[in-house]
Amino acid sequence: MSTPVAIHTLSGTSRLAGVMGWPVSHSKSPRLQGYWLAQYGVDGTYMPLPVAPENFAASVKSLRDLGFAGVNVTIPYKQAVFAVCDELTDRAKRIGAVNTVTFSPDGKIQGDNTDGFGFIENLRQYVPDIDFSSGPAVVLGAGGASRAVIVSLLDENCSQIRLTNRTASRAHELAREIGDDRITVVDWPIAKTSLCDAALLVNTTSLGMVGQPALEIDLGGLAQSAIVTDIVYAPLKTNLLLGAEARGNKVVDGLGMLLHQARPGFHRWFGVDPVVTSELREFVLSPV
Ligand code: ATR
Repeated sequence: MSTPVAIHTLSGTSRLAGVMGWPVSHSKSPRLQGYWLAQYGVDGTYMPLPVAPENFAASVKSLRDLGFAGVNVTIPYKQAVFAVCDELTDRAKRIGAVNTVTFSPDGKIQGDNTDGFGFIENLRQYVPDIDFSSGPAVVLGAGGASRAVIVSLLDENCSQIRLTNRTASRAHELAREIGDDRITVVDWPIAKTSLCDAALLVNTTSLGMVGQPALEIDLGGLAQSAIVTDIVYAPLKTNLLLGAEARGNKVVDGLGMLLHQARPGFHRWFGVDPVVTSELREFVLSPV
C-alpha cells in the first residue's frame, strides 16, 4: 500500500502574506506563520521575500497591487518602510519602526509595530498576574528592541523605567525621543542601587546571544520577587536567566516575544487570532 501524501494546495481566493528582508533566510517567520496556517486550516500562504534595498519601496507597492493581505518587514527595512506607509499606528510612530504591514481593501498601506505587544504578551503568558505598575523596570540596552520594550512598558503604566546602555549618549537620545519623564538614564554597568527595588529586569542588548560576549551583571542587589527577562532567545536560557533563576527569580525567555509579535499580523491577514503553545515553540526551534 502506498503511503498517504499530505497535499497542500491553494485555492483561487487564498490569502497571501510574507516577510520582506535582506537577507531573509534567517527568519523564523515563515515557519511560525506556516505552523498556524496548517493548524487552523487557513486557505493561505506566507513566504520569505528577499528584496534588495533598491527594490524595497517598489516591491511593497507591488505586493499590494498583487493582492497580498500584508507583510512583515525585518532588517534592514523596519525604518525604511515608514516612507512607503500611508497610515501608521500610534505605537509604530512612537517606537519609530514598523514590523507589520497590512494592505487595506482601498489600497492603503498601513504600518504597525507589534514588537512591544509581543514583549508584554510573552511576560503575561508566563506570569499571568504580572502588574507592570508594581515597581521600577530596569532596561539594559538602547537599540531598536529597547525602544519597543520601553514604549510598551509605559503603555502598561510602568511607574519608572531605568535605562542603561554601554553608549550613554544613545540612552539619553532614546529617552529624549520617547519624551516621558518616567524614564531615567542610569549608569552602565548597572549599580546595585538601581537594581534593588526593581520589579522587572529586561536585557535588550545582544549580549549573551550565541557568538556574542556574555552579559556581565551583578544580580546581588535584585529582590527575589523581581521578574527577569531577556529578548535574546539563542540560547533560550542566557547566562542572565540562568543566574537569575539560580537565585530564585522568576525568569521568562525571549522566544515568546518573537511568537507573540506575529499574532496581530496573522489575525489581520488570515482572520484567526492564533495561540502560542509549547508545541509551536518546539516547532519553531526545531531544524527545518
Ligand atoms: P537592536 O535594534 O536589535 O536593539 P542595536 O540597535 O544594534 O540592535 O542595539 C544593540 C544593543 O546591544 C545596544 O544597546 C548596544 O549598546 P551600544 O549602543 O553601546 O552599542 C548593545 N551592545 C551590543 N554589544 C555590546 C557590548 N559588547 N557591550 C555592551 N552593550 C552591547
